[in-house]
Amino acid sequence: MHAFTLKNCELGVATAATQIEGGHARTNWHRWAEEPGRIKDGSSPARACDHWNRVPEDVALLTDLNVQHYRMGLEWARVEPSPGEFDSAAIDHYRDELGRLIDAGIKPLVTLHHFNNPTWFEDAAGFLNPDGTKVFQQYTQRMVSALGDLVNEWITINEPNIYATHAYYFGVWPPGIRSLKTLTHVYTNLAAAHIDAYRLIHELQPDARVGVAQHLRVFRPRIAWHPGHWASAQTMEWLFQRVITKAMCKGRFLAPLSQPAGIRPGIYYDFHGINYYSRSTVSRLDDGVGADVPINDLGWEIYPQGLIEVANWLHEAHPGPLYVTENGTANSDDGFRSRFIHEHLAEIAASDLPIERYYHWSFMDNWEWLEGESARFGLIRVNYETQERTMRDSGRFFSEIAAQRGVTEEMYQRYVAHQIYSRNTPPNPGPSRITTPG
Ligand code: FCB
Repeated sequence: MHAFTLKNCELGVATAATQIEGGHARTNWHRWAEEPGRIKDGSSPARACDHWNRVPEDVALLTDLNVQHYRMGLEWARVEPSPGEFDSAAIDHYRDELGRLIDAGIKPLVTLHHFNNPTWFEDAAGFLNPDGTKVFQQYTQRMVSALGDLVNEWITINEPNIYATHAYYFGVWPPGIRSLKTLTHVYTNLAAAHIDAYRLIHELQPDARVGVAQHLRVFRPRIAWHPGHWASAQTMEWLFQRVITKAMCKGRFLAPLSQPAGIRPGIYYDFHGINYYSRSTVSRLDDGVGADVPINDLGWEIYPQGLIEVANWLHEAHPGPLYVTENGTANSDDGFRSRFIHEHLAEIAASDLPIERYYHWSFMDNWEWLEGESARFGLIRVNYETQERTMRDSGRFFSEIAAQRGVTEEMYQRYVAHQIYSRNTPPNPGPSRITTPG
């Protein structure tokens, strides 16, 4: 299907504060990046896109993209630089940005936690500390009170599974801990933090829409008939996404988690955020990429049907409105990004699921966790030396799609027909996101 119309799905783009703002906020990531060897190209979020100083220019670019929605994050360390002390200038900065978005006809969706802890929170054991959830509530309370007249859509926590596994099990993200027991504590506390924040936001703002951005992927056995590979795929799905989505959506904690005191089963979502990038091919409790499949610059499989497979999986378990809160690809020469966009949006257009939003990751190139400045996910290219922004061809394609909520045959021929993916050549299974090597 080359041409299609997006009937019920509105378009936006997504970013995260630490990845675009630049500057010397005291976050876990700024500190981690200073340690030699942590980030592949040695870069730090202190440079990034200097978005903090370029808000008007960047809002103008969002307007050029014709998007109706923008998912953005708050830098907790900026608004609460030390425990309990809130910085009104930083809050005003976000108020100004949100005001500009609204004036431009763009609806903001705000993420409260996107892997980014203030160093003081991290040093007090972050979400590993059961009291961490209370600290997160205070921050949430302040943000919703301060910004609630401008925002009524919130994501409490981004990708709890990626965050918890990378930071506390694989140990490749700050604070670099490798422990299964710790992982289960963090999972539990993140779910509790979400549920408390969900309740609190609704108390403060009855018309709010609140959700989590869950990182979901398809797990398939490397050899379909192999019982060990099949069991690995099932176990990965259970540990990586079934347990955490159930805990956060319904307040029910399945093994290996246990029900925390004070959390009652209920319904703790108004929509589901789905971040979808890839499919995993597994033969043990690990991750991998199939042979001879299309891949992006980072070796992640490109598998567009998977977007609907995971959306269906989540919607069956926990019915509700679906927002694709991230979907995109690392592609520095822009040689296949338009094809990627076309194929994923075509899946949405053909689906009966209530997918109300699609936020492309990302608005512009940004500082990527571990890969630094080298992985380019943007519809807009950023020259980090000069901070010059240049609309990519895929950005023009996306803006045309956003303007007419669909793709015509003529657009397909102009932007997509000539694009091809690279393929993963056997026997090297290649790296993937879950086990990004340190
Ligand atoms: C997701 C993250 C996002 C970005 C993309 C590429 O896992 O939420 O910040 O890094 O991957």
